[in-house]
Amino acid sequence: MNKQVETIQYLVKAKFKNQESRYLHTLGVVKMALQLARIHGVNEEETVLAALLHDYCRYDTKETMLKLITDEKIIKEIADKDYLLHGYAAAYYLKNELKINNEKIHQAILNHTTGRINMSRLDEIIFISDFAEVTRNHKEAKEIRELAFKDFYQALYLTYFYQINYLEKTGKKASDLQKELMAYYLKKKEMKK
Ligand SMILES: [Fe+2]
Ligand SMILES: [Fe+2]
Repeated sequence: MNKQVETIQYLVKAKFKNQESRYLHTLGVVKMALQLARIHGVNEEETVLAALLHDYCRYDTKETMLKLITDEKIIKEIADKDYLLHGYAAAYYLKNELKINNEKIHQAILNHTTGRINMSRLDEIIFISDFAEVTRNHKEAKEIRELAFKDFYQALYLTYFYQINYLEKTGKKASDLQKELMAYYLKKKEMKK
């Protein structure tokens, strides 16, 4: 195995030593993302690194996370979106602390919570694996877990559909971006038919 991947595996294990379920979730994302990467011809090492690090900052304080994000413009952009913070912090951790200058991995980690307009295939793979990996045991996750291998765009569409429904059911508001992406993947899956 690549030395860099091995080092980061160790780092992630140590980081989550008191959060076993988060560690298992991370390994679940690695596994599912890697299976999808092989199907879609996406670089495997980049996939593993993005999956391993996507939730790395999940339990850091807001102060720590903000310190990692060295771009003031970005901090302003997400000022009222705390739910995005852990992904952004981990993406900057990769760049500034681990000194891994790989824009594809950076973007996939940065956007894993909601996705973005014009997602790369790696972004899509991390996003969907985060929702549906094997330790997620709600019925929607189980459905997406199978569907992702049969009809990728339909699986992405449904992931947004379920996320938005869940947010609305629990009294939170889905973002315009999430709604836009749901519509985008609905169109994509229909164009394929
Ligand atoms: Fe996350
Ligand atoms: Fe996650």
